[in-house]
Formats: sequence, structure tokens, C-alpha cells
Amino acid sequence: SSDEEGGEEYLFKIVIIGDSAVGKSNLLSRYARNEFNLHSKATIGVEFQTQSMEIDGKEVKAQIWDTAGQERFRAVTSAYYRGAVGALIVYDISRRTTFDSIGRWLDELKRIVLFVSNVDEEAHSDTTVARMLVGNKCDLENIRDVSVEEGKSLAEAEGLFFIETSALDSTNVKKAFEIVIREIY
Ligand code: GTP
Ligand code: MG
Repeated sequence: SSDEEGGEEYLFKIVIIGDSAVGKSNLLSRYARNEFNLHSKATIGVEFQTQSMEIDGKEVKAQIWDTAGQERFRAVTSAYYRGAVGALIVYDISRRTTFDSIGRWLDELKRIVLFVSNVDEEAHSDTTVARMLVGNKCDLENIRDVSVEEGKSLAEAEGLFFIETSALDSTNVKKAFEIVIREIY
């Protein structure tokens, strides 16, 4: 139907970044396929999924890139941030070190996105990346290591959206992606 109306179809690139084992791959598999894997393997390099959704009667396609959190893949994965208009920056609420890393992930994102944008100042303002700070594994309340307030205040200070999710029990997973996609759209 969109073809007849003349190009009313949208494709957005979104990246998921954050330390290893925070649950990036499971957030994507929960969102895209409603699947969760208790014993998932660390991602090597990058993988992507295309997910369609309807917003205000229009078909919106998000190409979601799931990146490896392990340090040794960093040079490879950051190349894939290019052209991203949305980013989920994920930490694990039960592991403080993953929260402490958020600053580094934001710097990395800025470095790549600014590099592209510097080519054309005008384009920069049009291509601001919608960024969502995601505190995953909120089902692990009994071993929580980062408070909701800390997550919120970091997000506020950096101008990010904020949400806590659980890929295990599905809490807020759909919402996290859809807020970012809606913001871009
Ligand atoms: P890398 O690919 O190495 O960057 O890791 P990742 O961020 O993709 O983590 P992954 O999704 O592979 O999950 C790592 C581990 O955390 C797995 O054992 C998952 O089952 C578990 N996990 C993921 N999300 C959740 C969650 O919401 N709650 C709980 N309790 N465990 C989770
Ligand atoms: Mg992974």
C-alpha cells in the first residue's frame, strides 16, 4: 500500500551497545521473536534484525544492530554505529561495573556520530540520535546493585531517555524499542 502512496515507508537504523553479558542479544530476541535464552553465547562482531511496526498507520521498519560488548570487538562494532538514528545503551542493574561503563559507551557513540556529522553541519541537527539508557535485568531485584534513582539521574544529566527492562520476564522490552522508534519517527 505504501508504494502507491509514494515512498511512505521508513527504515531506521538502531544500535544496541553496552558491556558484555548485560543482555543486549536477549533484549533484541525478546522484542523481535519473543524468545529468551538463559545460556546465550557472547555475540561475535554484530548481528542485525529488521523489525516492522505500525505508527500512526504507517509502516516503520527498524534495522536493529546488536553489537558485541566484549572489548576485543570494539574496533569492529563501532564502525556499525554509522548512520544510526537510535541507540539503546544497556547496563545490568545487578552489576555496577556495567553502569560505570556507560560514560565510555556514550563517548564512543558521540565520536562516531560526530565524525559523520562533521561532514555537514546542517545534517547534524537533523540526525540527532535518539538515545535510551536501559537498565536491564530488573527481575534481579534481590541482587540489585544500581538504584533506579542513579539510572534516572545519569540519564537526565546526559539527556537520555531512561527505562528499566527485563528480557527474562519481558518487562518494558517492547516499550524501550518503541519509545526510541517513535522519537525518531
Ligand atoms: P555480549 O554479546 O557478549 O555483548 O552479551 P549480551 O549483552 O548480548 O548478553 P546476552 O543477551 O547474551 O545475555 C547474557 C546473559 O544474561 C545470558 O545468560 C542471559 O540469559 C542473561 N540475561 C539477559 N537478559 C536478562 C534479564 O533480563 N534477566 C536475567 N535474569 N538474565 C538476563
Ligand atoms: Mg550479545
